[in-house]
Amino acid sequence: MVKIAIMGFGVVGSGVWEVLTKNAASIAKRAGDEIGIKYILDIRDFPDHPAKNLIIKDFDKILNDDEVSIVVETIGGLEPAYTYTKKLLEKGKHVVTSNKELVAKHGPELLRIAKEKNINYFFEAGVGGGIPIIRPLQNCLAGNQITEIAGILNGTTNYILTQMSKYSLSFEEALKQAQEKGYAERNPSNDVDGHDACRKIAILSSIAYSHYVNYVNIYTEGISKVTKEDMEYAEELGCTIKLIAMSKKLDSTTVFARVSPLMILQKSPFANVDDVFNAILVKGDAIGDVMFYGQGAGKLPTASAVVGDIIDIVKHIDKSYVYTWGISGDIKVLNIDETT
Ligand code: HSE
Repeated sequence: MVKIAIMGFGVVGSGVWEVLTKNAASIAKRAGDEIGIKYILDIRDFPDHPAKNLIIKDFDKILNDDEVSIVVETIGGLEPAYTYTKKLLEKGKHVVTSNKELVAKHGPELLRIAKEKNINYFFEAGVGGGIPIIRPLQNCLAGNQITEIAGILNGTTNYILTQMSKYSLSFEEALKQAQEKGYAERNPSNDVDGHDACRKIAILSSIAYSHYVNYVNIYTEGISKVTKEDMEYAEELGCTIKLIAMSKKLDSTTVFARVSPLMILQKSPFANVDDVFNAILVKGDAIGDVMFYGQGAGKLPTASAVVGDIIDIVKHIDKSYVYTWGISGDIKVLNIDETT
């Protein structure tokens, strides 16, 4: 049996427990081994939860337990997630995360450590929730020169814009609903001001263009200034408003990237991506256009991606196949596409 630990028992962490518990038999078959949760690290107690006996408060217990080979980081945010992840990787433990903030900021360093230690640092759940997009970019599409990525990458803002458009809700009412459903980040500014989508397009672009795209250089505008009236005008013009994150490879040293609300024609596929769903369009020189669509946030969809990463590691437990996109250095990011 492969022993794992979960750090952070919030929406995603508890979803990981749920999927691993509910589908234990089929997961064991596919992984080639059983997966047992040995510890759950959280500062809170969960006296009524069936996993209450696994809850611990001391990170060092996980770090120093040689039986634990894979650790799930669903704490979110930069600290203590960064310190814990670095220590775990340096100790030779595989880490699986949904933490896009950490990957966007410290991805190059953490991937380098994983490579050196011959282990994996996986983050399929970091972009697009349950949608497979990291692996397709790294593997299935690896034969292409990727020229463009565009997408609806934030479920919360898409949910808010959908509610504003379909049910004439105010921004505040729709945000409250998104928070109640567990979609929004702890700090909703990460969603509504576009930072979450910015980190996600930076991660996808780093993979697609094989250079670290630093999210701080991406022009980012959120949806907090979008009013009901804007939405009504857009609809009169046969459009709707969506928060679109995009990047385009301009040449071998330069990328154009930005995140902003855009008017989208009703007949465009993006216009019909509603609620918490995400959609990602990738353009490759061999494949042409390919689109990925599914639930971009929420407990079980995100847990689905985390558990997929865990199974992948169990199947190849002694092998590292992380992609160190930091190694080739940063790529310049422009906020204006001078080619159009
Ligand atoms: N807050 C994020 C979103 C969660 O709404 O998309 C999933 O990354």
